[in-house]
Amino acid sequence: MCGIVGVLGKHEVAPVLVEALRRLEYRGYDSAGIATVHDGHLDRRRAVGKLVNLSDLLVHNPLPGKSGIGHTRWATHGSPTEVNAHPHKAGPVAVVHNGIIENYRELREELTGAGYEFSTETDTETVAHLCQSYIAAGLNHVEAAEKTLSRLEGAFALVFLFDGQEDLMIAARKGSPLAIGHGDGEVFVGSDAIALASLTDQITYLDEGDRAILTRTTCEIRDEAGNLANRPVKKVNIAATRVDKAGYRHFMAKEIAEQPTVLAGALSAYLDGDDIDFGEAGLDFTGTERLTMVACGTAYYACLTAKYWFERLAGLPVEVDIASEFRYREPPITSGTTALFVSQSGETADTLAALRYCRDKADRILSVVNVDESSIARESDLALPIHAGVEVGVASTKAFTCQLNVLLLMAIEAAFQRGRITAKEKAQHLADLRSLPGIFNVALERDEIIADSARDMVEARDVLFLGRGLMYPLALEGALKLKEISYVHAEAYASGELKHGPIALIDASVPVVVMAPRDSLFDKTVSNMQEVMARGGNVLLVTDAAGAAAAGSEVWRTIILPEVPEMLAPLLYALPAQLLAYHGAVAKGTDVDQPRNLAKSVTVE
Ligand code: F6R
Repeated sequence: MCGIVGVLGKHEVAPVLVEALRRLEYRGYDSAGIATVHDGHLDRRRAVGKLVNLSDLLVHNPLPGKSGIGHTRWATHGSPTEVNAHPHKAGPVAVVHNGIIENYRELREELTGAGYEFSTETDTETVAHLCQSYIAAGLNHVEAAEKTLSRLEGAFALVFLFDGQEDLMIAARKGSPLAIGHGDGEVFVGSDAIALASLTDQITYLDEGDRAILTRTTCEIRDEAGNLANRPVKKVNIAATRVDKAGYRHFMAKEIAEQPTVLAGALSAYLDGDDIDFGEAGLDFTGTERLTMVACGTAYYACLTAKYWFERLAGLPVEVDIASEFRYREPPITSGTTALFVSQSGETADTLAALRYCRDKADRILSVVNVDESSIARESDLALPIHAGVEVGVASTKAFTCQLNVLLLMAIEAAFQRGRITAKEKAQHLADLRSLPGIFNVALERDEIIADSARDMVEARDVLFLGRGLMYPLALEGALKLKEISYVHAEAYASGELKHGPIALIDASVPVVVMAPRDSLFDKTVSNMQEVMARGGNVLLVTDAAGAAAAGSEVWRTIILPEVPEMLAPLLYALPAQLLAYHGAVAKGTDVDQPRNLAKSVTVE
């Protein structure tokens, strides 16, 4: 969370910084700011709220200069006010920061004792003052930044800019990602390559502990021990970093609608004729005795879904955990364990920490990610990309279905390798998967019907989601989507759990969304549905034609999807879950792509 950029350029840098920040706004949008050096003088502009407020400010109060840094904030320490907005400035130093400085209180006390005055509640201001103090003590800018970095504990990506220094920028990475972009007589820094996509396709990713001393023509990278480090320059695929709404009202609408195409591409990336191809290294499950899967949020629900697949298809025991809980429990990891981490961004701090916990304990570390060069991908023995393309909407949609796609392919392969399915059955599963994009297209035609239901549903204060078996994680995902973008309180339960407590909530004011294709568990779910309706509850049933016919006429509303093989249902039923939340949020007039208090990449614990 928080996006940072830096530019030593040839032209006026303020519009370049704002454009780069626009591409990073998904990382936080509580406030934004830039600082530049012009005629040797360091100055800054900051504004609360969305980036557009900063752009407006710059129209009336421009900031000249060809060297600058910028920041878009997701508040951690200190409320989202202008004073707390980055860049933070102390004497000749300006700094932008992503992450948390854990020892900032001690440092602040030390600096206050030495006479430095603080004007913000942030941890970042400490960094600026510390660097200022080392410059005041006689160190040059590079030495002062180095010394400052050596004092910091916690996770950070930082960029420093200095008064009087128009050709110097210092960037450092520890725990939060940072990319250096190389131009012709220009140099750029960004939280990711997407931020720099309109500037350059030549990118160097900093490793953990690296710092880069940058001028327009030189890029000196040192590792944590201070040794010169030779990090490769990679050419990134700019087309893959394109971010536009393609005529849709919101990124989320576009990302939902493009799922058939994206899924088809994601599937073909893993199919070689009638076989699954996990790349040169391959993926061998024969020695695997158990899988430990760890993730957060929507990615966690993808893991819960995959648990059903791995257990039922492959007979492989699976434990799934929420990353923020996992390592503090200190779970024993025994030999025979494969640890699998799922993350769209590949940067989620808790998931990364869980991966590191497993590093020397599990037989191997696998990950399923959307960002190839992310920290989680780089620290895995094998990283399987989901090929979802850039996901801008803060609420994850296409990344979820693409995660499910890869996880299902893994489960099918594991089932085959472990002798649980024949080659013919494997081929049938793959043929089923191939038919999914077409089925998805048909389901998208239900958009208007789903929108109608969503508009009625979000009138309620609370909504319940129910599902059984493979539909239970989907119910959880549906409730999460609704909460995060429409701000309607929603909870999900395994259908069978209802009578153990939550049924007390049921009355005519609580819509109950039941996800239930006509599968082997359908009759049991219908019984739970009857229990809801017998208490006046309004059931919104998401099912197929056979399910609708069997459910009876007392159901409040029915959304009918095409029939799919049981194992594929979670992929298809993700669509109505997403569309109910999307249309509900549009009806409520909330900020669909950038819901309040959230950020897309959660790089703090
Ligand atoms: C919800 C959502 C979040 C993320 C979670 C993990 O729509 O997007 O719950 O799934 O923050 O993020 P990644 O997958 O980047 O690790």
